Amino acid sequence: MGISVPAFPVQAVSDVVLRDGSTMRFRPPRLKDAAALLDFFRGLSDRSLYLRFHGHPTVDERLVAPMLEPDWTERGALVGMDGERIAALASYARLRNAGVAEVAFAVADELQGRGIAMRMLERLAALAGLVGIEEFLAEVMPDNGAMLRVFAEAGFQTSRTTESGTTEVRLRLASTETLVSRIDERDHVAVSASLKPFFSPDSVAVIGASPRARSIGGELFRNILRGDFVGAAYPVNRSGGSVAGVRAYESVAQIGEPVQQRRLQAVTRGEFGHGMLPCNWTQAVLAVGSFDTRRNDTVSPSSW
Ligand SMILES: CC(C)(COP(=O)(O)OP(=O)(O)OC[C@H]1O[C@@H](n2cnc3c(N)ncnc32)[C@H](O)[C@@H]1OP(=O)(O)O)[C@@H](O)C(=O)NCCC(=O)NCCS
Repeated sequence: MGISVPAFPVQAVSDVVLRDGSTMRFRPPRLKDAAALLDFFRGLSDRSLYLRFHGHPTVDERLVAPMLEPDWTERGALVGMDGERIAALASYARLRNAGVAEVAFAVADELQGRGIAMRMLERLAALAGLVGIEEFLAEVMPDNGAMLRVFAEAGFQTSRTTESGTTEVRLRLASTETLVSRIDERDHVAVSASLKPFFSPDSVAVIGASPRARSIGGELFRNILRGDFVGAAYPVNRSGGSVAGVRAYESVAQIGEPVQQRRLQAVTRGEFGHGMLPCNWTQAVLAVGSFDTRRNDTVSPSSW
């Protein structure tokens, strides 16, 4: 039945940039998330709940239990976090045909339409592929345009049949050129959107710009270079390893005199919500912050 992966695989935790440039952390739901998951379902509108479950289920512990602590082999699940609150859920359950799993999604009503389900589908498919799942099957209400569009546009090979008031969508999870290029396009749109607020400052320091390929901070910095930013751009990371051929600094303070005389724009990926908001937030010298929490790449206010 494929390769089994640890209950909490490292790859299952990821920070993604959404279509509007904001970010969200995806992670597997743990047993202690039961109450938060119940709150999530209780917060959904009647229509969203109906579309998710094709009816009006009793929202209690029994409903959420199968989604907690996924083993990935039989069941996989990711929650999307909005700060401490669960704002989205994507889950699969393997069917008797070992290569196929049924998949379903739900996103908090006020956060729908920002590309969260699309990103969750990408991640869940990659994780399912690790345990030998080759196909996702979804039962979708025929009038559920948003879900059908996500499946149609994601880039997977799909087939669709409608019978007895339900549309069955099948997605082949094997990577294809189309899939890779759609994911690249979405990455590009998302990272570009995340950069829009950056383009007025004289200087930009990207804190947490890692030399590693495809890290969010590193990609942010590379996009600043690609975007022909006219000011000075400085990568800052703990190792001081250069990024895209540009010398990096271990802290903003190390950048030195020229930068401190300039105005630095404050933008964060939201991780400041985890207690990293710099205490000098209201002062003139701020920083562009991108923190790769997977590597604990945080920068404390004292190191600025
Ligand atoms: C269906 C549902 C999960 C979709 O979640 P979502 O996060 O709003 O979906 P996305 O934002 O990823 O996609 C929605 C739309 O954006 C589009 N989209 C997403 N990412 C995109 C991107 N990077 N570029 C362009 N379009 C994109 C999708 O094609 C879709 O098209 P639309 O805007 O014309 O509707 C959500 O509406 C929901 O929770 N509904 C209630 C529960 C439900 O229906 N579950 C399905 C059971 S299988």
